[in-house]
Amino acid sequence: MMTKNQQWYKNAIFYQVYPRSFMDSNGDGYGDFQGIISRLDYIRDLGVDCIWLQPTYPSPLRDDGYDISDYTGVYEPFGTIADFKRLVAEVHRRGMYLISDLVINHCSSDHPWFQAARNDPSSKYYDYFVWSDDPNKYSEARIIFVDSQKSNWTFDEKVGKYFWHRFYPTQPDLNFDNPEVREEMKNVLRFWLDLGIDGFRADAVPYLYEREGTNGENLPETHAYLKELRKLMDTEYPGTVLLCEANQWPRDVAEYFGDGDEFQLGFHFPLMPRIFMSIGKQDASSLLQIMKDTPDIPDGCQWCTFLRNHDELTLEMVTEEDRQWMWNFYAPDKEMRMNLGIRRRLYPLMDNDRKRIELGYSCIFTLPGSPVLYYGDEIGMGDDIRQFDRNGVRTPMQWDGSKNGGFSTADETYLPAIRDGANGYLRTNVADQENDPDSNLNRLKRMIRIRKSSEALGSGKLIWLLDGAAVPVLAYARESGRDTVIAVHNMTETDRSVLLSAADGTYRDLLNESLEVEAADGLLRMELPPRAFHWLRKVN
Ligand code: NOJ
Repeated sequence: MMTKNQQWYKNAIFYQVYPRSFMDSNGDGYGDFQGIISRLDYIRDLGVDCIWLQPTYPSPLRDDGYDISDYTGVYEPFGTIADFKRLVAEVHRRGMYLISDLVINHCSSDHPWFQAARNDPSSKYYDYFVWSDDPNKYSEARIIFVDSQKSNWTFDEKVGKYFWHRFYPTQPDLNFDNPEVREEMKNVLRFWLDLGIDGFRADAVPYLYEREGTNGENLPETHAYLKELRKLMDTEYPGTVLLCEANQWPRDVAEYFGDGDEFQLGFHFPLMPRIFMSIGKQDASSLLQIMKDTPDIPDGCQWCTFLRNHDELTLEMVTEEDRQWMWNFYAPDKEMRMNLGIRRRLYPLMDNDRKRIELGYSCIFTLPGSPVLYYGDEIGMGDDIRQFDRNGVRTPMQWDGSKNGGFSTADETYLPAIRDGANGYLRTNVADQENDPDSNLNRLKRMIRIRKSSEALGSGKLIWLLDGAAVPVLAYARESGRDTVIAVHNMTETDRSVLLSAADGTYRDLLNESLEVEAADGLLRMELPPRAFHWLRKVN
């Protein structure tokens, strides 16, 4: 058992592993646990502290594993529970943590509970789900998968009633008003925590309860139950953590931290599109505003920042006008759009322009929060918008230039690896980049290493240094004890000169040690080439 620093997650680098795509050890075309184990050194060497392992439960894969048909098993092609345990042990042996996905809002329509409910409405499982004769009930609840769903109700022929689902109809929502469901889910947590994992990324938590006259999000009942889960974890599995997936405004996500008695971690969804907007518009005012609108959170809690993940780049938390702007700028081809978002990966989104990409990374490494990286984005993997749903951003990891990018020896993989083009595996892969000191991979590793070497960047207080109606240069200080780092970003394509308030003394760029600047009379002057950024540590 690893000794745990109880607040390790507050300044950690997370890395998202999509198990189907990561590494296939047995040549069946699917990634698997053994494959992940074989690449753990790579993940550790990147500087990762915690792996977020995406769903590995048995599933018909109608929502790529977020439709669970057995909460206490593993999807067969991934291996066995024993392999899962081995994975956990191997992660811990390397000094890392592992959290996995917990999907409690809904299960798969193939789950025996739903099958039993449909086949026999008098069975106790009927009440595990939410039924109605009237498809207009809870009409204030929005539809999430707007491209394909017309309603959150689907009529079940066998039962003769409608059942409730916030996502696909193949994902019936569980009924949290039923105490048995609440208990079942607690036992699911216990099952996985008993296998030694360090916590969960909890999926779709705002939607657990439904109440007439509300939008069915963030309800008090939902918070009360989530607090029970946290209590269970604190009592029975101390040191384990909960990461909240709530695509909501900062003040609403902040509610999920409770008084430090609900989630320890929460994704900062609204920040993410604003990083892209700030870079695209060459003006960071929207980023600054959302950070100012972000409330303080309890001491044991932390935001998780990110640039991309396995879903569409969500534009739910922006205005209609900004959404149109983002679509026009980053998804000119309608095929790139999905629901209220953009189904593309980081490098293609930024036209492979390293300056813009690294500006984005610099934001998540220097703003408060634990950054979450999406597998493949460290090398600049491509996307394939011809693939169904969000699969185009979930293609096989590009390990080397061989068949299937080294992901699998199979003739056919569950999704084709991207071979051609600037972001295909022939030109973009781990093996090549490991050998090139200036590769995307090695530059990112360096940024991570530097970020981790600074207490201020990890947990320092945030102090804004520039403000205004337009923010062409984004500058702030992070201060922690004796460590002060000023992060300054030229968001524009032109040269900029800035004057920042700073304590007198010498500042050295952590990213380029030969660069030193002096602050005098409380002012620091800098000339910034287009898209330049610096992490300036006060050295004396
Ligand atoms: C959020 C997950 O990230 C997404 O992939 C999934 O489709 C929905 N929740 C439903 O579980």
